[in-house]
Amino acid sequence: MTHFDPTPSDFLMLGTCDYPEHVPSDRWAPYARMQAELGLRFVRVAEFAWSRLEPRPGEFDWAWLDDAIAAYAAGGLRVVMCTPTPTPPAWLIRAHPEILAFDDQGRVREFGSRRHYDFASPVFREHSRRITRAVAERYGAHPAVVGWQTDNEFGCHGTSRSYGGASEAAFPAWLQARYGTLDALNEAWGNVFWSMEYTDWAQVKSPALTVTEPNPSHVLDYHRFASDLIASFQAEQVEILRELSPGRFVTHNFMIFESGFDHYDVARGLDFATWDNYPTGMLEFFAPPGVGEDLKTHYARTGHPDLVAFNHDVYRSLMLGKEGLGRDGEDTPNGFWVMEQQCGQVNWAPYNPLPAEGAVALWTAQAWAHGADVVSYFRWRAATMAQEVMHSGLLRHDETPDRGFTEVAGLDLTQFPVGPVPARVALLHDYESLWIYDQQRHAAGLSYWAQTVTYYMALRSLGVDVQITHPDADLSGFAAVVAPAITLVPADRAARWEAAAQGGVPFVFGPRTAFRTPGGATWSNGQSGPLSEMTGARLLQYDSLRPSVTQGVTGAFGTVDASLWAESYRVTGAQTLATYVGGPLDGQSAVIRHGNATVIGAHSLDLIRAVLSEVLGGAGVPLLDLPEGVRVSRRADRTLVQNWHPHAVTWGGLELGPVSSVVLGGDWTPTEGKGEQGE
Ligand code: GAL
Repeated sequence: MTHFDPTPSDFLMLGTCDYPEHVPSDRWAPYARMQAELGLRFVRVAEFAWSRLEPRPGEFDWAWLDDAIAAYAAGGLRVVMCTPTPTPPAWLIRAHPEILAFDDQGRVREFGSRRHYDFASPVFREHSRRITRAVAERYGAHPAVVGWQTDNEFGCHGTSRSYGGASEAAFPAWLQARYGTLDALNEAWGNVFWSMEYTDWAQVKSPALTVTEPNPSHVLDYHRFASDLIASFQAEQVEILRELSPGRFVTHNFMIFESGFDHYDVARGLDFATWDNYPTGMLEFFAPPGVGEDLKTHYARTGHPDLVAFNHDVYRSLMLGKEGLGRDGEDTPNGFWVMEQQCGQVNWAPYNPLPAEGAVALWTAQAWAHGADVVSYFRWRAATMAQEVMHSGLLRHDETPDRGFTEVAGLDLTQFPVGPVPARVALLHDYESLWIYDQQRHAAGLSYWAQTVTYYMALRSLGVDVQITHPDADLSGFAAVVAPAITLVPADRAARWEAAAQGGVPFVFGPRTAFRTPGGATWSNGQSGPLSEMTGARLLQYDSLRPSVTQGVTGAFGTVDASLWAESYRVTGAQTLATYVGGPLDGQSAVIRHGNATVIGAHSLDLIRAVLSEVLGGAGVPLLDLPEGVRVSRRADRTLVQNWHPHAVTWGGLELGPVSSVVLGGDWTPTEGKGEQGE
């Protein structure tokens, strides 16, 4: 079955990640033919191929890649070329061992896998520019090459930061540029505490190997510094690609819940973002506290819908409003891609179950509904060698079509028109808040991501399409703004939020909002610092709840048990909507409201859902009451309804099979609002 359409840009398109260097050359032409017959239109190549492209210093071998690209082109596929910098070859590393990075235990991260480089290394920077220029000179103007991926998954395997060598050496100069004087640095970090004051820039090292925890302000700045290095590393490549490959897009494949750098900064020079979607492995690593062992088992073969959707929304939103080159070159849609989509089992989680029947189709439909213009499956054929032999592909090791292949063959892409996602609710997300929050969680089970995703899950359970948004973006056009964990709030940010609220936009804040200054200290007038006028309250107490301890909350939203975190407020103008019952916070304010600002102090999915339901309902956002595992998303003029359960569900007048999707009209609404669930 073929899916070529006379107007392909109007619908979701598909692709794959292929590795011609892993198979004999006589496989290239038949693979390209099979890929085209399957309806794939893009193939991404060569991100790890440096040792074959430049087998010895300065000696290039292009012949094999020329031939492979010719085979793809003959099959009608368009090629996404990569800069091969995630895998510098052995000859380069042994000649310049100073390229290697250090872990936070001070150990060298050796050659023998991938991503073995320090972004700060001047030698590696030079070689990165050199190989980028060489590959771009060869293929930048090739008619089959439609775009570029820089490197591969910045930050993967904990490689955002190096705690020694070139990075450590470059850190003092970065600090000097930021702070100007040592007095300013000492002041910003609060170095008087524990006599950590510096009298010479050269005394400052990376925040590793300290006796006990390092100063969180030191850590925050090391994260900023490392993030800037990644942004400038990529910018050097992008500049060369723009020069030598005009009219082609440039993107990067970002990762699931990656925390190592500021994605807004790193994405800035790209045309659109792409990310790598592995739903089953993601569930193992990133389930928030509400998703316990039972739910992990329940969703083991699909992953959890909201964890996947959250990442789609992050990457759709990252570059929104940016004018650039679309997926196909000029004048084509500008949506994000899933550059690597799981299409069978992965190999890197503690357990790697076979995906459910229907999961590949489910994931593809979901990606489309959350804004993807292209879904590209990882990988074409399962690797027969080295680290990833346990990982699946569209083809098995023996080249026979695997289960994912069959599902891709069955897709009807005309169900998936490209177009905007009509999200009117902003959920604020920012990496600096993430970094400082996670330095001092204070309740082991709660992290920045866990808190943020809990709010996201509540929104998705209400059927709300969400725009993940930077806290300094223009918020005036949103129906409502939800800020689950923006703990770092400078005065100018607070002023912008206040203006938007006064303009009529309701805000919902989670606990720890505006606790921190940009330096990582607390506001000396307490939480919520410069936001205190807007919230009409000050922080009174915070409590960290052991997993078996709960804190009752009662009031306008019913009675619920909070877990992990509960903070109370001294109101200075706000109205108390719910109070704590029992425990040390008994009788104190738990949920407060001041004008358009509502603050939720306790961690409870039920409470968050109830508050959001009230605020969004009041703002005119259409809401649903979705059962667990059933999700609704809207794109272009369609509505996607999905059932992620391994069993059938009857809901909203629809019979939904196990692990299934149905695409309906944009104005579809459920016939029975609440809907019942079947087994
Ligand atoms: C990604 C990576 C791929 C491959 C894949 C396996 O993180 O970009 O190269 O390793 O994981 O799931």
